[in-house]
Amino acid sequence: MPRVTISPLEGIIAALAAVVAFGPAPASAFYFPGVAPTSYKTGDRVPLYVNRLTPADSQDDPKLRSVFSFDYYHEQFHFCKPEDGPEYRPESLGSILFGDRIQTSAFELKMGVNETCKALCGDNVFTPEDARFVNSRIAMGYDLNWLIDGLPAAQLLKEVNSDEPFYSPGFALGRVDEEGRAEFNNHYNILIDFHEATNGKYRVVGVLVDPYSTTDPQRQDDGTMQCGNLEHPVYLDEDKDTKVAFTYSVYWRPSPTPFATRWDKYLHVYDPKIHWFSLINSAVIVVFLIGMVSTILVRTLKKDIARYNRLEQFALDDFGGTDSIEDGVQEDSGWKLVHGDVFRPPRNPLLLSVMLGNGAQLFMMAGLTIAFALLGFLSPSNRGALGTVMVILYTFFGFIGGYVSARVYKFFGGEAWKLNFFYTPVALPGLVFATFFLLNLFVWMRGASGAVPFTTMLILVIMWFVISLPLSLAGSWLAFKQPVISAPVHTNQIPRQIPPAGGYLRPIPSMLLAGILPFGAIFVELYYIMNSIWFSKVYYMFGFLFICYGLMIMTCAAVTVLMIYFLLCAEDYHWQWRSFFTAGASALYVFASALLYWLKAVSFTNWTSGVLYLGYSALLSALFFVLTGTIGFFASGLFVMKIYRSIKVD
Ligand SMILES: *[C@@H]1O[C@H](CO)[C@@H](O)[C@H](O)[C@H]1NC(C)=O
Repeated sequence: MPRVTISPLEGIIAALAAVVAFGPAPASAFYFPGVAPTSYKTGDRVPLYVNRLTPADSQDDPKLRSVFSFDYYHEQFHFCKPEDGPEYRPESLGSILFGDRIQTSAFELKMGVNETCKALCGDNVFTPEDARFVNSRIAMGYDLNWLIDGLPAAQLLKEVNSDEPFYSPGFALGRVDEEGRAEFNNHYNILIDFHEATNGKYRVVGVLVDPYSTTDPQRQDDGTMQCGNLEHPVYLDEDKDTKVAFTYSVYWRPSPTPFATRWDKYLHVYDPKIHWFSLINSAVIVVFLIGMVSTILVRTLKKDIARYNRLEQFALDDFGGTDSIEDGVQEDSGWKLVHGDVFRPPRNPLLLSVMLGNGAQLFMMAGLTIAFALLGFLSPSNRGALGTVMVILYTFFGFIGGYVSARVYKFFGGEAWKLNFFYTPVALPGLVFATFFLLNLFVWMRGASGAVPFTTMLILVIMWFVISLPLSLAGSWLAFKQPVISAPVHTNQIPRQIPPAGGYLRPIPSMLLAGILPFGAIFVELYYIMNSIWFSKVYYMFGFLFICYGLMIMTCAAVTVLMIYFLLCAEDYHWQWRSFFTAGASALYVFASALLYWLKAVSFTNWTSGVLYLGYSALLSALFFVLTGTIGFFASGLFVMKIYRSIKVD
């Protein structure tokens, strides 16, 4: 079983986040330790760790064929184990959740000492069944993932446009030749770049692996092995047993790259132009929207408010003014008419407040995680830090979830506050966890190693129960003790009739229309995130993501406020759920884009992969729905408060 550890860095970030969130922080001296470099003397053993095998895209056929990853020592691959058996390395929670399974290996690397053609364990026999299994994984384009001194073993690729070389983590299990036969790689040329830090102290600054398929490693007269013969690749026979020997060579190359920048060649931004294009694109949408909203706020609303207040004045000045023509005509339209209903609690206040609480929790978690990542604390060199920090922040922000939920529920005049206290920390996290658990059951059933171990699941449950739940209850309690937020206008006894709305104001068209804009702000980044999730690549374009997140928030807010304004003008006062759904509708587009991504980049060979893909896409879309819906609700809530506060009502 992989062991879970949480590094001091992640602990500090979580603590800092808690401080930032819950109290005035002394913004001064917080020290973030970097990833400490390891120095080796010539001849020191440099451990090589193996990670799981992941499905990958090759350059000539960029399609995802499976979502399952396999343990390196999965029986049927017959990879050589270290003599005293492989051991799991301790990993962070996020690393395990995102699928890493790091174990020790049989490779012996010594700093600065070249080796040619070293044999690993003896001959390994692939039965026809194993051969079929491995051949089909080769056809699916599986990659091996190794780690040397924390650096992933990579392949050297060239950028298509600029021909600039970069290191792409992972290397192929095998390849399918021109005749459609699968060659199995059994020899590895390991090229390690090292840098002399101080006299006689060396550091690893780059790892490339060039795998080959070769049948006959030759024993030379002097006892050394020679294994460069590429004319006879290894084909695993699906009809009879095949013997395969594993060999490797190590070449240490001096490099001028210092330790501090060793990750740079791995972190390669594909097509930065596309990111910039999309950013400018969404920035234009946002500017346009904000322009429209501010026009309405400044011009129309000002006029409305001035008119309403003038009428009020007029009615007061002239006592008999009730039969005034102007009064009758002008009062008969606009959002002022629904002032007696606009703060009427919505249907199902409990459900809405629970969703809003959870949305606020997600909102804070996402924002703070992206901010930390942007500041460079969650760099990929710190394996799994992103996942760990996300989980920890989510757990701690249970407090905010509880607070917001209870505060809103009280504002809605809800009375079943015990249910509110209970459902806020339980409903959505429970649903997410249950889905996660079910999907994980699928992976587990297939015997793939991507399944999250039971102990990790247990840790999640314990974290939720011990930290999140009490914090949420504390937040709810605090909100419950506070005075209810007062509405600026009174609510009438009898609800007003709502005239039938037409056109774009009907629920479905309005949602579809409004939802596409926030989606427009994020869809390019979303594509890259999906790529990195499904192809197990590191995602690190947090600068872009940060701006996108900001743009998405603004778009959500602006478009919902606009829609709610039109709705109120049409004398429909059911704005609460409507604002939630209007902004939340962008999740529909997120899900649709996941389906589109399937058409474009995915061709599964088994249905369980499909189930997993759809399941996780639906889960992410659901969370996105709650997140954007919450943004929409609070934006329109503020808007509604503001406009009704500025008119005088008798
Ligand atoms: C090891 O091999 C590399 C690459 O062929 C070469 O540049 C380097 O000089 C070799 N080192 C030694 C100590 O022979």
